[in-house]
Amino acid sequence: MSRSLNLAVVPGDGIGQEVVAQGLKVLNAVLPQDVKLQTKEYDLGAQRWHRTGETLPDAELDSLKQHDAILLGAIGDPSVPSGVLERGLLLKLRFAFDHFINLRPSKLFPNTATPLAGRPEIDFVVVREGTEGPYTGNGGSIRTGTEHEVATEVSLNTAYGVERVVRDAYERADARPRKKLTLVHKNNVLVYAGHMWKNIFDRVGQEYPEVTTDYLHVDAATIFFVTQPERFDVIVTDNLFGDILTDLAAAVTGGIGLAASGNINPTGAFPSMFEPVHGSAPDIAGQGKADPTATVLSVALLLRHLGFEAEAVRIEEAVSADLAERDGGTTRTTDEIGDALAVRVAG
Ligand code: NAI
Ligand code: MG
Repeated sequence: MSRSLNLAVVPGDGIGQEVVAQGLKVLNAVLPQDVKLQTKEYDLGAQRWHRTGETLPDAELDSLKQHDAILLGAIGDPSVPSGVLERGLLLKLRFAFDHFINLRPSKLFPNTATPLAGRPEIDFVVVREGTEGPYTGNGGSIRTGTEHEVATEVSLNTAYGVERVVRDAYERADARPRKKLTLVHKNNVLVYAGHMWKNIFDRVGQEYPEVTTDYLHVDAATIFFVTQPERFDVIVTDNLFGDILTDLAAAVTGGIGLAASGNINPTGAFPSMFEPVHGSAPDIAGQGKADPTATVLSVALLLRHLGFEAEAVRIEEAVSADLAERDGGTTRTTDEIGDALAVRVAG
């Protein structure tokens, strides 16, 4: 039986273009012969906005919907007012395709620098809720700009939305060797949403007797990310806490050049989107200095999501091996790192 992979590619801005080219190179090298790969490139991001004023036209959104998955580089440039592309493109995609799982694996690979003393073992996954919390645009301001200004930004939490992300996190924990799931919230202060999260977490947990559970307030979690990161296996948390925690996780595991992520709709109703955590890095764009590893690891997440587990593992092993042999003294170009990884996954 011949298989196919129909991929939408959004290179985006700055180094997005450079790193996505390497991600596709590695993808081509790792896919078995019988898999037909089709890609369609979409011109979205800062350049498009400057040219046409468009962020994500409906026709493009409909077209993106036809793909199995989306690979995205990075979107954004200092020349675009803050919020235009975040809300008009990135968040729009996340909501339109109901990407309720934001998946961020954090692993300290061999030979990578961590700011933490003693090189602790770090290998955990953050499952961040992607469609609710304070990110729904539920708020407003009155008397704006006066000294009597009032602004609200309401955190939206539904039992349906919480249950589906919690259930996904239990599934992921159950499938990992350590089978441990930690809920992170702030239910001592945010009592309404916090208790709903905790109650649903406890109830769904009864269906996963093999999974060990834990609860941490988000402030305590930031301490343990630094002092005891080895205590974590899978973490489930709300949209805002997850946003902050995952940046900290990237910082303690060797930095932004390695951090991969997936915006996932596990039901398959819409394509899921995979992207490096970093942005368009205008300071190094066009110079061949960007590390494409985060994008290559995002390709591994994409493949795993679509059922290509063996290929995902091959990419992760190639990255591990490549990092282990990196020598701090010599720097390779974006292209050279991509070539090295492509050779490893093909071999
Ligand atoms: P950034 O992640 O682009 O860059 C932060 C620092 O990390 C820079 O010094 C950059 O050179 C370095 N860096 C990032 N990726 C790297 C890589 N692969 N290899 C080597 N070094 C790397 O974040 P910044 O500067 O805050 O944002 C730049 C633009 O990117 C902004 O317009 C921002 O809105 C956008 N952005 C987009 C994201 C997305 O598309 N999901 C995520 C974060 C920022
Ligand atoms: Mg962030």
